[in-house]
Amino acid sequence: MQIITTINEMKAWSAKARRESKTLGFVPTMGYLHEGHMSLVHKSLAECDVTIVSSYVNPAQFGPNEDLDTYPSAPEKDRDLLLSAGVDVLFRPAAGEIYPKGYKTYVSVEGITAKLCGISRPDFFRGVTTVVLKLFNIVAPDKAYFGEKDWQQLAVIETMVRDLNMDVEIRRMPLLRESDGLAMSSRNRYLDSSERNSALLLSRALKMAQEKTKNGERSANKIRDEIRQIINESSQAKIDYITLCDPYNFEEVTNLNGKTLAALAVKIGSARLIDNCILESV
Ligand code: PAF
Repeated sequence: MQIITTINEMKAWSAKARRESKTLGFVPTMGYLHEGHMSLVHKSLAECDVTIVSSYVNPAQFGPNEDLDTYPSAPEKDRDLLLSAGVDVLFRPAAGEIYPKGYKTYVSVEGITAKLCGISRPDFFRGVTTVVLKLFNIVAPDKAYFGEKDWQQLAVIETMVRDLNMDVEIRRMPLLRESDGLAMSSRNRYLDSSERNSALLLSRALKMAQEKTKNGERSANKIRDEIRQIINESSQAKIDYITLCDPYNFEEVTNLNGKTLAALAVKIGSARLIDNCILESV
């Protein structure tokens, strides 16, 4: 596995692979890899001739009081994991490569970024789309892999790719959970054992919502209230939002019909956790 730290070298590597008619799979990450990331990597390895993984903690997607300075990192462990998986390139741009002095250009998707996570993290999606667009320009992948854990992020990236006529196929991969139900996330590392216990309420609440829907409940208000009650069982949990909405435009629904996204963001200790599931009503 090659470790590349400059944009020029990364572009040259990709250009050569394309000249050799190879298909390029790309998994953008912020490092501190877990099984969720690795499931994207394995999918790319299975579907593409070569796989590139980027690891870059993108300052543009963190707000002023967020965890940019404390974001977990384990560069050696990440390298070993990717090496043993058979990844071709780990792209780890050096500080200053992505946003050099004088940097001025940002890309934003409108509308859907003002909802859900966009309410309490107003600059988050603009930071994500800017860095993802830049990474796509540098790596020039055929396919890029993202997890449905970050459902809204995925919808925003899909919208950018569609609206800007970009030549990359976005591959959606399912959210992975720990055996106790906690959605896998690098930020789970911030939880102490009592906070981790409280964090299990998120998946428990979503499971309840799925069961209620399966048993015929169609009132979004009722399901949302029950989710809230479950989360509020822990005094450590501070709800940011709970929504039952359309999975693609994020408009709140009142009556469940077809596919509804149940999504929530909850602060527990210093960790802001998100989780989601699809409620299917026929
Ligand atoms: O989901 C993430 O880890 C990040 O938001 C991403 C897509 C790598 C952009 O920095």
